[in-house]
Amino acid sequence: MAEIVLVEACSHSPFLYMEPHQWNEVRNARPPTPHNPEMSEEENAAQHARCLAAFDVLREKMEAAKPDVILIFGDDQKELFDLDNFPAFGIFVGDEFEGYRTVARQGIVPGGQRGWRERTPETWVAVKNHPQLAQELAVGLTRRDFDISFSFDAPNKEHGMGHAFMRPMHRIVPNFDVPMIPFFVNCYFGPQPSANRCYRLGKAAREVIEASPLDLRVAVIGSGGLWHTPGSPTAWLDTDFDQRILSCIPAGDGKAMADAFDAQGAEPPPDYDPKNSRWVDGGTGMYTGIGSGTGETRNWVAAAGSADGKPGVVVDYVPVYASPCGMGFAYWEM
Ligand SMILES: [Fe+2]
Repeated sequence: MAEIVLVEACSHSPFLYMEPHQWNEVRNARPPTPHNPEMSEEENAAQHARCLAAFDVLREKMEAAKPDVILIFGDDQKELFDLDNFPAFGIFVGDEFEGYRTVARQGIVPGGQRGWRERTPETWVAVKNHPQLAQELAVGLTRRDFDISFSFDAPNKEHGMGHAFMRPMHRIVPNFDVPMIPFFVNCYFGPQPSANRCYRLGKAAREVIEASPLDLRVAVIGSGGLWHTPGSPTAWLDTDFDQRILSCIPAGDGKAMADAFDAQGAEPPPDYDPKNSRWVDGGTGMYTGIGSGTGETRNWVAAAGSADGKPGVVVDYVPVYASPCGMGFAYWEM
């Protein structure tokens, strides 16, 4: 019988994969963000160190849990998929995939060189999937009324697997030597699934895993968030939203987390313009709840659903105003 031995959740912002002395450089290259306090280089370095220390905790917990496979709830940002046909929920069921370990494009400053990074062993890696468990999840979730898209191969090999899957692995399983099942949750492009549906998805995934005859120790990661609205001309950081999400973790209450998310996204923001609000609806003109980077918090909700009932631990929360992005790190021992 398979079992979930550990659930984790973490942010995956590019700021976590650059040097802190670059943070203000990037911030200053963007439109001014008057809602966010100025941060000195020293303050940025201290925040960066806290984020890496939090990743260290997640890596140590993962090593101790000794999983045979890691299921990651993440989102594709037009990396493998595009708007010609975009899955609400999808799973990779093939044998193996490849991708950039951290950042696919050269340069970090808008206006700088943004071509593909050279593929070297330092930047690019092949990763084993676990096709048996992935296919059991595709079948078992469909039988539980989740209609899941599936991919036997990556549709956009030039880009490779998206950042939501590769970046957490780079920090938590740096050798990429544990099979990883990418599970795609549409977080960016309206219409997106509600957080309550993601909560039920996570619970159903646990049911499927616990019903599997495979003898596997399974870890789950929810990847992305917390609050960030990249591309918004008035990007701000709603730390109250982030705290409402994080406050559900010690109680192991995934349903409350989903409700907090869905309450926030019930109405479009006051400045929402369907012709010019890509940061809200991903440019589809269809608003159905929080999109953009904050929408990735759905992946935390799916992870919390798979850990439902188990008290979790918030390792740290770091409000990185240089981005701005609320960086969160949490785990649930099962
Ligand atoms: Fe992302």
